[in-house]
Amino acid sequence: MNICFIGTGYVGLVSGVLFSDFGHKVICVDNDRIKIDKLNKGIIPIFEPGLDELVNRNLNSKRLVFTTDIKYAIKSSDIVFIAVGTPTAKDGISADLKNVYSASNIIANNINKYKLIIIKSTVPVCTGDDVENIIKKKNSSSKFTVVSNPEFLREGEAIRDFRYPDRVVIGCNNLKKTRSILEKLYEPIIKKGAKFIVTTRRSSELIKYASNAFLATKITFINEIANLCEKVGSNVEDIAIGIGTDERIGPRFLRAGPAYGGSCFPKDTKALIKIGKKFNIDMSVVKTVIKSNEKRKLLLADKIIKILGKSKNKNVGFLGVTFKANTDDMRDSQCLKIFPKLLKKGINIAYYDPTGKKKELENFIFRKSSDEIIKNSDLVIIHTEWDEFRSLNFNIIKNRKLKIFDLRNLYQPNTFANKNINYYSIGRKYYEKKA
Ligand code: UGA
Repeated sequence: MNICFIGTGYVGLVSGVLFSDFGHKVICVDNDRIKIDKLNKGIIPIFEPGLDELVNRNLNSKRLVFTTDIKYAIKSSDIVFIAVGTPTAKDGISADLKNVYSASNIIANNINKYKLIIIKSTVPVCTGDDVENIIKKKNSSSKFTVVSNPEFLREGEAIRDFRYPDRVVIGCNNLKKTRSILEKLYEPIIKKGAKFIVTTRRSSELIKYASNAFLATKITFINEIANLCEKVGSNVEDIAIGIGTDERIGPRFLRAGPAYGGSCFPKDTKALIKIGKKFNIDMSVVKTVIKSNEKRKLLLADKIIKILGKSKNKNVGFLGVTFKANTDDMRDSQCLKIFPKLLKKGINIAYYDPTGKKKELENFIFRKSSDEIIKNSDLVIIHTEWDEFRSLNFNIIKNRKLKIFDLRNLYQPNTFANKNINYYSIGRKYYEKKA
């Protein structure tokens, strides 16, 4: 099949590359010339383990093309994916749909034969109707179907999530024409056992927001339970196992940590509230989740201040500053809310991240390794769960005292029983040695 992806951001790039790896001819288009030039040289603009190899393999086989020529891309394709960004708008809550509408207008002007138009971008319910209307209005004789097909890719795990998803969701109001094309497109994935869920376009659009909001709720719930565990001396990990083994609850996304962050949950939970508002529905659960998640970052900052104690000129070293491991993405990273609060208290902050220096943190000291952080800190904060942080070398502190606050529970508290280390974690008993 001839496919084009409008938008070569995270979702468009990963999905386009993987469809080409399934043997389709894929054109990935973007209006950022520098990005396209780099991609044509096999240079990947995002950090996603394994993606560079796939890009280079499919570029070499000529199944994958990167271009800025959107007209050529649309005209040459049977299937046009809209995979442009839908960031939070200026009002601070709605999804900004200008990229989706602009892509729809360009598609309308370039329909030369029947097109299956698939919206992969995360869009509020009824956006598919808007896209259909824009195209019909501009090009009334054109033949096309607009389908919703949300993505469920996690940054850092996107290749695996694309190949082995739990489900493929298709939302379409005219299935007669499209079902067999879509089944063929997703055949390699369905064959491996993914559920193929077919529903209306509006339902599919809402499934995406409901999924992200539900996962954000699960995380926020376990984080609040973790707060309670700390007070009553319970272990949040045991609680997660204890509740997660109930199939009605499920074990995943119950890792307590430093609040959820990233480019999706914060944006999509806010947008869901806005969608509810539009239809006069109070999304009170989601509102509470957002509030609790925001509060958590400040609560953790307070805990850090408390752990450090009163004395002046304290050095805190962060291990990892992105919103989670295996990504270089700083969007809505938890530490961006924690750092200012520590700064106000005169605390010195340094950080190390496996993906390098961050422009968002240019006023902070960047250290080149976790060893450097451990050597130069009174308190080490494990902020993300990179594998390399699971076997840190604490012997380098020699006889000096060190405090660790492990926001990802990478270690067992008793690991530090015989060390000169006070270990704090999330939702578990502290391992604090009195001076
Ligand atoms: C999320 C969803 O998981 C994907 O299914 C979805 O496709 C994507 O958003 C999107 O809408 O594009 P992502 O933001 O990449 O993916 O990252 P997650 O792995 O979901 O993590 C989000 C945040 O929750 C991170 O800060 C992570 O550390 C935190 N988290 C996750 C926890 O604190 N505990 C958990 O158990 C899981």
